[in-house]
Amino acid sequence: MKAVVVEHRGEAGSLKEIAMPQPGEREILVRVVAAGVNPIDWKSRDRGDRPLPFVLGQDFAGVVSALGARVSKYREGERILGIARTHGAYAEYTIVPEESQYEPVAKIPDGVGDADAAALPTAGLTALAGLEWLRVGQGTTLLVNGATGGVGGFAVQIAHDRAARIIGVAHSGSEAFARDLGVDQFVAYDTEDVVAAVKAAHPAGVDAVLDLVSDAEGLKRIAGLVHAGGRVVSTIGATDADWFAARKIDAVNLVVFKTLQSSHAGLRTLLELVEGQRLRVAIAEERPLSEAVEALDESKRGSVNGKIVITVG
Ligand SMILES: NC(=O)c1ccc[n+]([C@@H]2O[C@H](COP(=O)([O-])OP(=O)(O)OC[C@H]3O[C@@H](n4cnc5c(N)ncnc54)[C@H](OP(=O)(O)O)[C@@H]3O)[C@@H](O)[C@H]2O)c1
Repeated sequence: MKAVVVEHRGEAGSLKEIAMPQPGEREILVRVVAAGVNPIDWKSRDRGDRPLPFVLGQDFAGVVSALGARVSKYREGERILGIARTHGAYAEYTIVPEESQYEPVAKIPDGVGDADAAALPTAGLTALAGLEWLRVGQGTTLLVNGATGGVGGFAVQIAHDRAARIIGVAHSGSEAFARDLGVDQFVAYDTEDVVAAVKAAHPAGVDAVLDLVSDAEGLKRIAGLVHAGGRVVSTIGATDADWFAARKIDAVNLVVFKTLQSSHAGLRTLLELVEGQRLRVAIAEERPLSEAVEALDESKRGSVNGKIVITVG
């Protein structure tokens, strides 16, 4: 089968013919139809800490092609989506366990397309987990820093669906896109002083911050916008929980696969929101498998509104 493989440290990855993976007793062989692009795909490649060789990518939508002898929840021919962290997703076939918090899967309802399904898992589950930890509900004032990317795009829409008041921070060129997602106050990080703009509009402080971009110093500046008793999530490991606790703010470095939302139930929640037209998947671009490495370059450069999807089948 064809797959985009990294064989040597420092390599970007290339399309190769490799042996077809074989499912274990409780595993599913999936014919991949579409694969979603996430920053973790190029970050884990660039960190160079994965055993070689490995197949790039992790989010997929596809069709069950074969089942291990002890799989009972899925049938051949069913459409499924999920996260294939071990076997990768930029490939014609991948393998996932039937049930796993680390690599969750679920059936795709008829009304949800393959590209939309492939774009959902990692970013959607991270958005769900972040909003849950932040206790976002009706009337919560939520700041989303990085509002127009994969995680931010889903988080803004789900928070809007919960009747939260959303301040979205993104590039000035993305204002119309952010407002369309459900942002109430838009702040452009490239043309405004973010902290000053938010403070002027919310002098009593915001309730919650979902931060997808700030480093440790940047996040400490943003902490000045959160009232005592407020909550902060960083998806890039930028919080120092003790520093925040001293200011009566609960802060966490979220790791999605360690959360309750990283599960079959979490994927079902996302799919129900999409089916009910309460969550829209914004596909920035679709590219063939042969251009997967260029798609990663694009994700790394930034300025992508929504998700890039690789079309495989
Ligand atoms: N810990 C976990 O389990 C976990 C899970 C999922 C994701 N993550 C991480 O979370 C981060 C976000 O993921 P993602 O999928 O949403 O990435 P993404 O799709 O690349 O989105 C990032 C967004 O941030 C915006 N941005 C860039 N610089 C900014 C700044 N200075 N201020 C405000 N916004 C800025 C980008 O817009 P422009 O490029 O237009 O400026 C883009 O819309 C990534 O680093 C990812 O690896 C972690």
